[in-house]
Amino acid sequence: MSLRPFRNFAHIDLEFALGGAIIVGANGRGKSNILEAICYQSIGKSIRGSRDHEAIPHGGAHFDIRGNWQEGDRERPCRVFYGTTEGKKVFLDETALTRVSDLVAHFQTVHFAPQDVALVLQFSAQRRRLLDIVLSQADTDYLKALQTYQRLLTQRNHYLRSLGHRSIDTTEAEVWDAQLARPGSYLRHQRLSGLVEMLPDFQRHYKMFSTGEEAASLLYADAPLPPSSEQVPSQEQLEQEFRQQLSDAHEKERHAGHTLSGPHRDSFVFTIDDAAADTYGSQGQQKSVLLSWKMAELQLLERRRNRQPLLLLDDVFSELDPVRSAHLIDMIADFDQVILTAPRQPQEALGDRYARIDLE
Ligand SMILES: Nc1ncnc2c1ncn2[C@@H]1O[C@H](COP(=O)(O)OP(=O)(O)OP(=O)(O)O)[C@@H](O)[C@H]1O
Ligand SMILES: [Mg+2]
Repeated sequence: MSLRPFRNFAHIDLEFALGGAIIVGANGRGKSNILEAICYQSIGKSIRGSRDHEAIPHGGAHFDIRGNWQEGDRERPCRVFYGTTEGKKVFLDETALTRVSDLVAHFQTVHFAPQDVALVLQFSAQRRRLLDIVLSQADTDYLKALQTYQRLLTQRNHYLRSLGHRSIDTTEAEVWDAQLARPGSYLRHQRLSGLVEMLPDFQRHYKMFSTGEEAASLLYADAPLPPSSEQVPSQEQLEQEFRQQLSDAHEKERHAGHTLSGPHRDSFVFTIDDAAADTYGSQGQQKSVLLSWKMAELQLLERRRNRQPLLLLDDVFSELDPVRSAHLIDMIADFDQVILTAPRQPQEALGDRYARIDLE
């Protein structure tokens, strides 16, 4: 991969061995930036949620990330360019993609960073984002539905605001409801199915991290998940429910001037022994929750895509006790390609297994 330039790098060329690598460098050298650049090639945007222009080196006018992804025997060059005047351009196999989001179908990644723990556990918007990213990578129809939903939501909110003090015309409102309910119910259906599929992996990994003492779980829209995928309500059923939700709230929404229910507001919560992990979990527990979730993401993507995503672990051993670190090292040994970062000389178990890249 070459960054010419990106954030603190004016230019750097990096070669990642097939089995993975460990990037070592002092604080502030750009380890996290490198993982962010890799993610740009996977999801077409910043995994940290920063704006594109923030990744342009200070005083510069563009960033340019080029990589070669190995797909079986095939090498696939990918380039993500962003310029203040040109905007964002993505090239795959030397050809420009029509939409940046088309890139999401190609190279799957799972990214973990310790600073996400607090964010994800604290803010429901961050958890929805987590879920949306993995489900978009698992199925590009999900991303399309999400984009359609967001467009319709903006239009519906605009309609609600345009009403002012006029009373709502039920027939007109129902047209908006019906439009929003179609992609909305698809998203809810995919989220429920995805979560039901991920739950066993998530719980199994959490049990290993917590040495079996506590049980972690997931809630969607304040309710436990259906016990099996057969019991996930059909999309038709969810569509009916969503339309009902919308129509019940017409008066309230007219006052609020925006849509009060739907996948954009649904909560998705991690629990430890039935208590919300954000309010009651210790730091180590919360970190274990997010790591277990990431392991479950990896397995979901592998099943859905028939190949393993690239696992990116940023400074993952900070704050983990020796037992949990050892467990994590064992766990990632099962994965084909892992790129880790560490601020100092890695543990022997890692140093022997992964090619080392030193940032001076
Ligand atoms: N747009 C930018 N232009 C120039 N430098 C930037 C830009 N964005 C971030 N940086 C710099 O990149 C450096 C941080 O890089 P990064 O977060 O990747 O470090 P790190 O190696 O992960 O450090 P740590 O071990 O502390 O996590 C900082 O010095 C920061 O000022
Ligand atoms: Mg860092």
